[in-house]
Amino acid sequence: MAEPFIKTAIHAARSAGALLRENFGQELEVNEMQDHDIKLELDVRSQDLIAKILLEEHPDHAFFGEEGIEGDQDSPYQWIVDPIDGTVNYFYSIPHFCVSIGLRHQGEIILGVIYDPLLDELYQAEKGHGAQMNGRPIQVSQRGLKDAVITIGFSKDKASIDAGLERYKQIAYSVRKTRVFGSAALALAYIAAGRLDAYIEEQISLWDIAAGWLLIEEAGGIVEVRDSPVEIGKQAIIAANRTIDLSGVPRD
Ligand code: IPD
Ligand code: CA
Ligand code: CA
Repeated sequence: MAEPFIKTAIHAARSAGALLRENFGQELEVNEMQDHDIKLELDVRSQDLIAKILLEEHPDHAFFGEEGIEGDQDSPYQWIVDPIDGTVNYFYSIPHFCVSIGLRHQGEIILGVIYDPLLDELYQAEKGHGAQMNGRPIQVSQRGLKDAVITIGFSKDKASIDAGLERYKQIAYSVRKTRVFGSAALALAYIAAGRLDAYIEEQISLWDIAAGWLLIEEAGGIVEVRDSPVEIGKQAIIAANRTIDLSGVPRD
């Protein structure tokens, strides 16, 4: 059991969450404005805070965050961090975003923490020990495809938006509803908690999915990650409860 690791991860997620709560709805400094993405100074500040907490406690670990790497990159332990997942929501004062922290040991994800600071919902999982939200065990839903609410992510460039739209069309007629919420990590946490039934995105990074991946597996669901068909070096993900048969979803 990764006892000291989970405590540190929760402390880091809650600390960054408090920072995000304080600044939510305030004027924000923009580092970079792109057609389909925004980078905030607060993304960096949140990551710095998380890295400081994790590496002070575990100075020999590697840290791999969306905003950069730190620590000893040869360590068998690697923290995988998204300091704000849902930055565009955050910038537009849409109250749906989170902090995501995963830990890999020799390539295997052993811990995941996702924190939604506005709802004060903390999701946590440790390999082999189940998943919880605010201390209560969570499970994926048992809904089948026709009852399912499925969410699809659109990444940041035209190729990935086109691929996402194609998926949307393929699946929208078979399910009860489709949703696009704007935070991949929270979507995965919602599947683990049985709120949503599946998530698909054609171009995604490890920091978006590391923690949620373990949460879903520990909550009884299935996660399939493969190379992105639209960008080299990125991943594509299909995550779902165990009831939905997504084998019909084309993989390229
Ligand atoms: C993005 C969000 C979005 C997903 C994108 C991610 P960011 O992360 O998770 O929902 O569709 O692929 O890049 O930029 O807000 O950390
Ligand atoms: Ca992200
Ligand atoms: Ca981010």
